[in-house]
Amino acid sequence: MNSLNHVAIIMDGNGRWGIKHYNSRNKGHRAGLEVVEKIINVSLKKKISYLTLYAFSTENWKRPKKEINYLFKLLETFLKNQISDLEKKNIKLKIIGKKKLTPKLNKLILLSEKKTENNSSLQINLALNYGSKSEIIHTIKYLNKKNKIISEKNISNNLYTKKIPDPEILIRTGNTKRLSNFLLWQLAYTEIFFEKKLWPDFNEKDFNKIINKFLNLKRNFGSI
Ligand code: IPE
Ligand code: IPE
Ligand code: MG
Repeated sequence: MNSLNHVAIIMDGNGRWGIKHYNSRNKGHRAGLEVVEKIINVSLKKKISYLTLYAFSTENWKRPKKEINYLFKLLETFLKNQISDLEKKNIKLKIIGKKKLTPKLNKLILLSEKKTENNSSLQINLALNYGSKSEIIHTIKYLNKKNKIISEKNISNNLYTKKIPDPEILIRTGNTKRLSNFLLWQLAYTEIFFEKKLWPDFNEKDFNKIINKFLNLKRNFGSI
């Protein structure tokens, strides 16, 4: 049986869900946040060590300002309300991506990371203003500057995800089969599960089904 340490999720389909049920994309984002809280609890129960969640990509800046503002407001409320809960549950929060958002959010992010840095039950990596190509370029430039050789080890050890093992599972909800610039390096040998359901409809049962499928997979890593 495979062991499971790290699950990454592209939480896609909020907008379509919101339009379908309330004719409002933003309502979908709000419903999606409730599922995030549920999936965090399931991950704790399952003793998963790392949960990486794609919340905002470097390409998402192309969206209407109204939607971006709503997403950031939602995130602000989430961080404010969740800090004490994360602490209680011994969860560590790490942001991966370019930490240049709104001044209020930047401050809240720093505070949440600081307050939870010594926690050890589950680490949540929240991908915010994240783009994999820019992460890789940033890393290579850094290695060049430090006169270090460009090796697999040096690249892995200097990405935003340094010290974090690569995900064993990637889940993308929302019935779309693409990676959208997410963890291109780290997913080289990850098992990928594309889920038809929109993110706000994703639940514990769906998550468990994927985990059980993964546990019984034969992983080759190029061997036989
Ligand atoms: C994913 O849901 C959440 C974010 C990108 C913030 P979408 O907003 O992309 O939802 P759809 O794909 O338009 O339905
Ligand atoms: C990927 O979803 C980003 C997040 C879930 C945060 P998108 O909805 O932005 O992806 P594309 O643009 O459809 O590929
Ligand atoms: Mg989408």
